[in-house]
Amino acid sequence: MYITYLHLKNWRNFREAEIYLAPRSYVIGPNAVGKSNLLDVFRFLRDICKPAGGGLQKAVENRGGISKLRCLHARKDPEVKIEVHFSDRMEDETPSWRYVLGFKPEGKGAQRLLVSTEEVWQGRRRILSRPDSRDEEDRQLLTETHLEQTRTNAKFRVLPDFFSSTTYLHLVPQLLKYGDRIGGNRLEDDPFGQSFLERIARCTAKTREARLRKMNKALKAAVPRFKELRFKPDENTGRPHLEALYEHYRPNAGWQREDDFSDGTLRLLGIMWSLLEGDSLLLIEEPELSLHQAVVEQIPLLMNSIQREMKQRRQIIVSTHSEALLSNKGIDSKGVIVLESNKEGTKVRPVNEAEEKGLEAGLSVAEVVLPQTRPKMVEQLGLWK
Ligand SMILES: Nc1ncnc2c1ncn2[C@@H]1O[C@H](COP(=O)(O)OP(=O)(O)O)[C@@H](O)[C@H]1O
Ligand SMILES: [Mg+2]
Repeated sequence: MYITYLHLKNWRNFREAEIYLAPRSYVIGPNAVGKSNLLDVFRFLRDICKPAGGGLQKAVENRGGISKLRCLHARKDPEVKIEVHFSDRMEDETPSWRYVLGFKPEGKGAQRLLVSTEEVWQGRRRILSRPDSRDEEDRQLLTETHLEQTRTNAKFRVLPDFFSSTTYLHLVPQLLKYGDRIGGNRLEDDPFGQSFLERIARCTAKTREARLRKMNKALKAAVPRFKELRFKPDENTGRPHLEALYEHYRPNAGWQREDDFSDGTLRLLGIMWSLLEGDSLLLIEEPELSLHQAVVEQIPLLMNSIQREMKQRRQIIVSTHSEALLSNKGIDSKGVIVLESNKEGTKVRPVNEAEEKGLEAGLSVAEVVLPQTRPKMVEQLGLWK
């Protein structure tokens, strides 16, 4: 199942946004325009659906409360609203599922945060519409969504299942390399990839070998002198490690452990592993970080080639401002989501007609679309004294 469409109202810096998604989507725009905020919608829905310690109240609280979450440009209407459409095939006209969630503070007394709308549509049929008569009788029920309640979501369990299996990846190599020395604090859901090695250790030997083989092949193409990758738990402590062998001017130079890998190699490994790991929605933040331009250019192809033999390909949403990544001609313009900042917050748009013509003429997204997202005053940064 794919997410095909997203409608946001008063979500962070989006006062109103309509977003069409593709199996591979690229969210592009300058710094602080809201790329991470856009990915955060899916993390928010995942947080609501978490089997333990989830729920609407907690998900809002973890983001600093409704006043932080709601768009600062919101007019009188205080409601935050998210609508998501799902389809089994991208080309289907009617979505197989639609989920709508609106919430706002009660506006009096205790200022509880209440669900103002919750709807589920299966095809053309609406199978949930809140507030309903039970909610009217007991308004406390509106502090929770039906997504988070196993008792009430039996008819649309696919939706909480989908949301809760979303993966967010923003691997920070230093946290992985120096985890022991800087103390092992980890955030829930491990957004920064600290448990990457444990994830590798957890799967069966057969699956692990098959995945590492594929990664091996891709790395050979991307990293100079790279020869082989293997999984090797520490003989004494049993802790999982990855080791790589490089062709070296010293013939017997041995295997290197992950703490000697370059930051870029580690990030690339994290990205590749995630591509192979599941079939749910995958959110990748700025995969270009620490990587050589020539490797970054290949990321769109890498995502396809690594997933080629998988039964169900992951839907991937990438945030990026990398010229190299977007210079790849294989990027489908339908998956390009352009974020532009204006007085009213951030506007979201697809590739426009003029840009489409440029792409048809053989230019890349980097050449045609990216220049439009360049901050207007950027030259002045260099003039600061
Ligand atoms: N509720 C809100 N209303 C308006 N702007 C917000 C809100 N919450 C966060 N922002 C703004 O969003 C920006 C950060 O967006 P972010 O998604 O991190 O940008 P990017 O990932 O594109 O660099 C910050 O400038 C912050 O002020
Ligand atoms: Mg960001």
